[in-house]
Amino acid sequence: INNKQLVEDLLAWYDANARILPWREEATPYRVWVSEIMLQQTRVEAVKPYFERFIHALPDISALAHASEDTLRKLWEGLGYYHRVSNMKKAAIQCMERFNGQLPSTYDELLSLSGIGAYSAGAIASIAFHQPVPAVDGNVLRVFSRVWVIEDDILKESTKKKFQKLLMEVIPKERPDAFNQAVMEIGAMVCVPNAAPKCHICPLAPHCKGYQTGVTHKLPVKAGK
Ligand code: ADE
Repeated sequence: INNKQLVEDLLAWYDANARILPWREEATPYRVWVSEIMLQQTRVEAVKPYFERFIHALPDISALAHASEDTLRKLWEGLGYYHRVSNMKKAAIQCMERFNGQLPSTYDELLSLSGIGAYSAGAIASIAFHQPVPAVDGNVLRVFSRVWVIEDDILKESTKKKFQKLLMEVIPKERPDAFNQAVMEIGAMVCVPNAAPKCHICPLAPHCKGYQTGVTHKLPVKAGK
């Protein structure tokens, strides 16, 4: 399989089409972390004002570690899933205790922090620390189940593992940050769910087995547990 050309086409598309977002402009580990946690269950446009306000009020890990529940509640009000921010505070304290007040740079260390799972660890390690690790979320599963015509149930943990492993072989060592964000961007803007993918503008179409065989609308498979 010619992954080299796929990666090249994807990155060229990203360079020309990436949205300018506050956490991309200045991709410090703390900003990337806050953005990825906010973006887990919330859309980009809704996140933007919350992100700016949060970073302004709590500019670093130490400030977050010392923030009162009341402050956190007010900063998070409206975003929902409040446990996300209480876990962030716990993780900030863990960073103070174990990592000199900094976010650690490896996937495994990130995974050891409260509220950071496989997706967030991959996103932070790749975007903030340029580690060549994938960040597999629903968008990534949809895009690559179509590109490679993989019919495994994406709700299964074993399927996520399979994609992580496959993507390890594809992710470019020089630009893992751009690669992961490019796939997220394709998933959000182009390779959208159901029968509506915009294959005519997709840079992956020449590499997409699903597009070439007319089965994109059947993918990904979500059978349930
Ligand atoms: N969704 C999750 N992470 C994202 C990111 N870094 N950029 C855009 N959308 C995202």
